[in-house]
Amino acid sequence: MTTTLTLPDFSQAAPSAWQPGVDDTVKCVGIRQETHDVKTFVFRSIEPRRFAYHPGQFLTLELNINGETVNRCYTLSSTPTRPDTVSITVKRVPGGVVSNWLHDNLKVGDDVSVLGPSGEFSSFSLAPNAPKYLYLSAGSGVTPLMSMSRAHVDMSSNRDIVFLHSARSPSDVIFARELQAMSRHQPGFRHAVICERPGVDEDYAGYLGYLSAPMLELIAPDYKEREVFCCGPAPYMTAVKNVLQSLGFDMTHYHEESFSFETLNAASEETADVPAGDADSSSDGFKLSFTKSDLVVSCQPPKTLLAAAKEAGMRFPSSCSQGLCGTCKTKLVSGEVDMKHGGGIRQREIDQGWILPCCSIPKTDVVLDR
Ligand code: FES
Repeated sequence: MTTTLTLPDFSQAAPSAWQPGVDDTVKCVGIRQETHDVKTFVFRSIEPRRFAYHPGQFLTLELNINGETVNRCYTLSSTPTRPDTVSITVKRVPGGVVSNWLHDNLKVGDDVSVLGPSGEFSSFSLAPNAPKYLYLSAGSGVTPLMSMSRAHVDMSSNRDIVFLHSARSPSDVIFARELQAMSRHQPGFRHAVICERPGVDEDYAGYLGYLSAPMLELIAPDYKEREVFCCGPAPYMTAVKNVLQSLGFDMTHYHEESFSFETLNAASEETADVPAGDADSSSDGFKLSFTKSDLVVSCQPPKTLLAAAKEAGMRFPSSCSQGLCGTCKTKLVSGEVDMKHGGGIRQREIDQGWILPCCSIPKTDVVLDR
């Protein structure tokens, strides 16, 4: 399918940059099948836009699935050094409402509402001057590390990068060919793959099993000199931490993407999306009022403001439900809350009176600008 696009005029000044926390609409302009269950979706802004972000950040999609508005965060696999498009690389997840919907329904030419970019997981902001990196990933956790690697390669930064990816089998290795090309063309970039099993690929001659201390010492003997960035399912990241700690690695040089959005969302939906009518709004607690919807509900600590709003049947944009993604960010009109966020809000936003209701518990009666 061919879509009508306004292509950039390269002789003109760059268009405006992508703004964190501002709604935008993007058009899907490409879909690539990466492996049997992984697709990359490429988007271009409808307004002329330069996609500015830190490699490793994520965007939030707002989708309409079966009449419901659903927000989901996906780490960008693209690189900001190619600022005219962004891409996400999505693996099917058993029971994953959004990932499977994207695979089965999103087409080239479709428009999607997005909010972006967010997130703190980036070697470009957390350790920009490290001379050596060790990027560790499993499954679709490869995406933020691929974004970082693509940016380094495009900038010819000449950083010493070891990119170690774990997959079920050789046919599950995402970006296999591009990783090989990067290793061939970029001095200082090396990649290695560890597969749980050889699968049907008889030519596979890489590492087999799971990442272990001897394997790490073989692949990156100087790992203690490296800044480590790790992303993957929670059990993988726990295993990585155990290996590094057993080797006496200084964990102040370890960074991880702390959650899998799809898994997290599935869990949070079960606990947060109580149907309207089930709420016990008569129970004791603080008064939670909303300026725009005229709704007043009760919120009894330790219940969060988001949980109380959802229990009362209010449609409230949210995604991670753990203070990480910033989707639920709301202005606090009055009152005091105890907020324990996970990086989804900046200090200057807090200073301006914004809060994340998903991780905020009331200390007084509260009024929100919703
Ligand atoms: S829903 Fe993600 S920060 Fe609140």
